[in-house]
Amino acid sequence: MSPDTKEKIVCIDGPSGVGKSTISRRVAASLSFTYLDTGAMYRAVALKLKNAGVDLEDNDSVRKCLDSISLQLLPASKGSDDVGVILDGCDVSAEIRSPEMAMVASAASALPAVREKLTRMQQEIGKKGKIVAEGRDTGTVVFPGAAWKFYLDADPAVRMQRRADQLRSQGKRVDEEELLAMIIKRDHDDKSRTIAPLCKAVDAHVIDTGLLSIDEVSNAMLAIII
Ligand code: DC
Repeated sequence: MSPDTKEKIVCIDGPSGVGKSTISRRVAASLSFTYLDTGAMYRAVALKLKNAGVDLEDNDSVRKCLDSISLQLLPASKGSDDVGVILDGCDVSAEIRSPEMAMVASAASALPAVREKLTRMQQEIGKKGKIVAEGRDTGTVVFPGAAWKFYLDADPAVRMQRRADQLRSQGKRVDEEELLAMIIKRDHDDKSRTIAPLCKAVDAHVIDTGLLSIDEVSNAMLAIII
């Protein structure tokens, strides 16, 4: 493994639908590291702001609403790739995973108060090391001193197809055109926001997951880490 001077943290960033969650969980399990799904945290915060009817333009109200937030991440339940999320004592694991909540999370994630709060929480969680952090800015902003950084990418059409298959397997109806438009809009919003935009860390390994299986990507990453 890399020198001890670097934090024992693996960062896996990239746009939605590149297979980050499955791959991150696999890499974390192989290393016996904890999997930190930062996207789940953004989704939960977005749900809290939405339910509280907070005006997202009003930074002070956003800050105040998040002052008292209680957020707990639980390991994924059997047969699921997604971590469980307890928000203020309520299980919101399923509610935060809809495509609509993804869009609300993308909007909320551009807010300074939201990013400050969650970046601090994530850095606190990462203090003990042995973390696989997945998100958009984990290698650039949250853990710039991480020992291993990866940036996963794939063509939007490939990502749309994977997401459509996943939603259909959950018995949901899918409008592929609409889904592709949402993915492209979310990429654009995540990459163009002023604070902590989605971008590759200069020292990240880039992997195109479009032509590779989950196993091939995970093994390529583990070969770099171990
Ligand atoms: O990975 P995900 O789809 O669950 O993320 C939901 C949204 O949260 C995504 O559109 C952007 C935002 N996000 C972020 O801004 N920074 C992160 N580290 C993780 C997610």
